[in-house]
Amino acid sequence: MSESPVRTLARAIRDTWRGLGSLRQFPRLIEQAEYLDREVARIRADLRRSAWRQQRTTGLEAQTKASFSFQWEHMPTGRALPSDASFMAGLDEHICRITGLPREWFPGKRVVDVGCGIGRYSYGLLQLGASVTACDQSEAALRRTAELCAPFKDRLTLRRIDLLEWRDEADFDLAFSFGVVHHTGNTYLAVEHVCRKAGPGGRLFLMIYGVPENTPAWREVNEYERLAEEVRHLSLEQRKQLMLDRFGPDAAHGWFDAVSPRINDRLTFEEIQDLLEELGFTNIARTIDARDHHVVAVRRPPVM
Ligand SMILES: C[S@@+](CC[C@H](N)C(=O)[O-])C[C@H]1O[C@@H](n2cnc3c(N)ncnc32)[C@H](O)[C@@H]1O
Repeated sequence: MSESPVRTLARAIRDTWRGLGSLRQFPRLIEQAEYLDREVARIRADLRRSAWRQQRTTGLEAQTKASFSFQWEHMPTGRALPSDASFMAGLDEHICRITGLPREWFPGKRVVDVGCGIGRYSYGLLQLGASVTACDQSEAALRRTAELCAPFKDRLTLRRIDLLEWRDEADFDLAFSFGVVHHTGNTYLAVEHVCRKAGPGGRLFLMIYGVPENTPAWREVNEYERLAEEVRHLSLEQRKQLMLDRFGPDAAHGWFDAVSPRINDRLTFEEIQDLLEELGFTNIARTIDARDHHVVAVRRPPVM
């Protein structure tokens, strides 16, 4: 026997009411997610701080360094790299924007580019008139930086370093480090060592990965994490081939860079601010609106 229209209607109303009951959980879930976000950030910050104090690392440094060395040796071209003419054409302006410094500031200044990779920023800083000390753990990176920056070689110094070991104090006008400290295995120690290179009153620029905070950012980072899992057991050569096949020659480098190194730390801006204040920096600010933090600061001169 078929159901009467009245019963059908009653059932539909009951189902809708139950559905609304689940919808009423939404505000609770939103509040809970926000709370958990903060709680995870706090726990991660505590872990980083204790690793810093105890000078601990993750044990994944060798893989991460080898991945970057492979990348610079075998995948040196792609979007936003020296082979990208439009990126290079806008590089000086881009550096002024991310450092918050006018182009007149650079001539004659001494800058250290910590974790220089194949030297795209070293090149731009030299182009702006600075003297540059370009440093990296990777031999291949330094060789390519030397080639790229050959037109400015009188103002270029190259140094092979391991940032976590490089405690020396220096007095550069600008300590610049783009996309490096979050790959070292002890982010706070790496930040401290970059900070030590800025002299009193000297400036600091850091690009540090940010935690995702909105849907496109979660989607992007989840995509990286999924692909990282997929390639986990492949050799570096096999990863390169997969990126080329899947994303093509222009984008392969970017994907390899995002998923092949095992160490990819992500911080909130508030955490970076706390750390830089503790390390004696002031005027801490973000220069551009982006998920990854482009942070500038000034080293406080000593109190007389
Ligand atoms: C994502 S790349 C950024 C390169 C460059 N700053 C750029 O933006 O083109 C990270 C660089 O950090 C370097 N690096 C990673 N760990 C390091 C360490 N412990 N000491 C020195 N350099 C390190 C890698 O070799 C790599 O060149």
